[in-house]
Amino acid sequence: MANVIVIGAQWGDEGKGKITDLLSRSADVVVRPQGGVNAGHTIVVQGQTFKLHLIPSGILYPETECVIGSGTVIDPKVLLEELGQLHSLNVSTDNLFISQTAHVTMPYHRLLDQASEQRRGEKKIGTTGRGIGPTYADKSERTGIRVVDLINPKELQEKLEWTINYKNVILEKLYNLAPLDPKVVIEEYIGYAEQLKPYVVDSSLKIYEAIKQKKNILFEGAQGTLLDLDHGTYPYVTSSNPIAGGACVGSGIGPTVVDRVIGVAKAYTTRVGEGPFPTELHGEIGEQLCDRGAEFGTTTGRRRRCGWFDGVIGRYAVRVNGLDCLAITKLDVLDELSEIKICVAYELDGHTCDNFPGNASEFARCTPIYETLPGWQKSTKDCRSLEDLPQEARDYLKFLAELMEVPIAIVSLGASRDQTIIVEDPIHGPKRALLDENGDPLSNKQ
Ligand code: IMP
Ligand code: MG
Repeated sequence: MANVIVIGAQWGDEGKGKITDLLSRSADVVVRPQGGVNAGHTIVVQGQTFKLHLIPSGILYPETECVIGSGTVIDPKVLLEELGQLHSLNVSTDNLFISQTAHVTMPYHRLLDQASEQRRGEKKIGTTGRGIGPTYADKSERTGIRVVDLINPKELQEKLEWTINYKNVILEKLYNLAPLDPKVVIEEYIGYAEQLKPYVVDSSLKIYEAIKQKKNILFEGAQGTLLDLDHGTYPYVTSSNPIAGGACVGSGIGPTVVDRVIGVAKAYTTRVGEGPFPTELHGEIGEQLCDRGAEFGTTTGRRRRCGWFDGVIGRYAVRVNGLDCLAITKLDVLDELSEIKICVAYELDGHTCDNFPGNASEFARCTPIYETLPGWQKSTKDCRSLEDLPQEARDYLKFLAELMEVPIAIVSLGASRDQTIIVEDPIHGPKRALLDENGDPLSNKQ
């Protein structure tokens, strides 16, 4: 048995949906620990496309239990739309469980998210506008509405009346927006609560019991390492903790139960929203990556910014998540390129910088130092083993693994389940975050 965390090693959109979908096959329980409807996973199964924001992709396996954990923020309206979409495609959601202590995104959160972005002007974060930041801010401010409050009409009414009157002051006085009518909102949300109530559980207990029964748990991170509130490119980050440690907090379980941490990274880099991005490509190659990779946000439809693979960020992701192995996705997007660059370090104020600088203004001044590798200029989408891949593609993967100092367990070459190379068992391999390819501690390396 193994309990595995899957996280994004870049700025989100690494293709975690497909990888968790693959790994869900051997999972009994899939947990989504953090984030809200800012996330978007596109999964293609037998030609059918599923777009999921909150519900773990494990829902597509009838036996798999799916838990929306306490570290998430839940927009009931969007969640119900998602449930409706699954039902219309005859996917059962009987195995879905929603944490009673997750926080609820309310209409004022969406309004405040959008209004504060507008107010920031040039300095905007480029949020998804889904109310994520304000929901988490209320959680910290201790004015949040939790799922337990939502499903208790009396509590909900009391709390919402107070909170909406408070938020109306901000909406009206600061942003010149129309106030919300507490009665209308309360009625709307009581309606949502009735539909969601059957799914609500004590999620920490549910997960703990599954662990005691030696079930396999898959923790499915949303967003990515560089969007982490504490360890990402602050302030251009989301408001939760997408790194591996966040999976424990957001699930209500201790780190001792985690056996493996798998990082998902694209063979290049993308980012949506504002903020520094050293390897960003502004010309023709960037356009080509965007078009070939269909790099448009699942949630907002925004065109993603594209650039070369950034090894500095990759190594940072290995460090802050304790990655045991990597899944490299979308390798096929590079098929047509005659040469491919990889950022191996940054130049910062005339010095070489090997490590991600936590200081935002320093990071903004970093320029990439590249190594250039030959492209393969052959289609890889039908390759099913490493041996099938052109030599240059294998060399590219080897370069990435050596740069990041972790093995690559999975290579993905397209959206469908079968466009995948399993290099080694991603779940049951040895814990190798701090070991080299011979199993020796990295610290012993010369
Ligand atoms: P928020 O999470 O909507 O507050 O947005 C904050 C930042 O995180 C923005 O740059 C968003 O584009 C980015 N972001 C949030 N969720 C995702 C995601 O699932 N994939 C990629 N970027 C995301
Ligand atoms: Mg996404």
